[in-house]
Amino acid sequence: MSVLSFRDVRVRYGSHTVLKDVSLEIGDGEVVGLVGESGSGKSTMARAAVGLAPVTGGEILLDGRPIPRRGPVRPVQMVFQDPYSSLDPRMTVGESVAEAMPGRPGKQARRAEITRLLTLVHLDPSRADDLPGRLSGGQRQRVALARALAARPEVIIADEITSSLDVSVQGAVLNLVRDMQRELGLSMLFISHNLAVVRYVAGRVAVMYGGEIVEQGPAAQVLGAPRHEYTRHLLAAVPGTIPTVKEPT
Ligand SMILES: Nc1ncnc2c1ncn2[C@@H]1O[C@H](COP(=O)(O)OP(=O)(O)O)[C@@H](O)[C@H]1O
Ligand SMILES: [Mg+2]
Repeated sequence: MSVLSFRDVRVRYGSHTVLKDVSLEIGDGEVVGLVGESGSGKSTMARAAVGLAPVTGGEILLDGRPIPRRGPVRPVQMVFQDPYSSLDPRMTVGESVAEAMPGRPGKQARRAEITRLLTLVHLDPSRADDLPGRLSGGQRQRVALARALAARPEVIIADEITSSLDVSVQGAVLNLVRDMQRELGLSMLFISHNLAVVRYVAGRVAVMYGGEIVEQGPAAQVLGAPRHEYTRHLLAAVPGTIPTVKEPT
């Protein structure tokens, strides 16, 4: 069981309350899409879940317990928007992935695990010896995913992970996320300002506006019969199809 619960979570920067008592639950093996305009507080929610934002009220729990922030087990892992700044340019792909592994695996186990993880994200394992500078944005984002998975997480928080990629590779990365999540049964909070992207991967959708979740429910319900005016506004801005998701890898 891996249930991530935000309960009345409040985050304040100075006098600016950025998250206003937000509650959201990501069920075991479930993908919840979090959508909302820029500045609505989506990244703050992600950062709060991994201990990077100042939570001044409420709590964030994993299976009803506080999330361990130190030690070898880091059950909640985050993948960030910009794959150009999230990987250390001086570390090889393999080193970056291995760094996130719990414990201290021996050389052979480490190598085998790097190969397994790169294969899982559809990268040629021979790329393990490359520096990130040799990789495209889409390839870097696959490495960032492999690195997150290396920690053997129970929950992944993906914050705009396709937003800085070329449209031509966004679909491939989305397909990967969807397949990977199903295969591993991960619980996932998938954040995007783009409703079309969220609709593609998420079973449940939460809509954020001005630091509050104004609507949440099954994707078909929220997107098919939105109750909140802001959700209707978001929907109106989405084209009917996402042509990019059919692009080959
Ligand atoms: N470290 C910070 N210090 C001060 N204000 C911040 C900080 N991080 C985010 N904010 C503010 O919080 C609000 C929500 O930001 P963010 O969570 O990044 O939104 P989103 O990811 O939805 O675009 C914005 O008004 C932003 O300026
Ligand atoms: Mg953001």
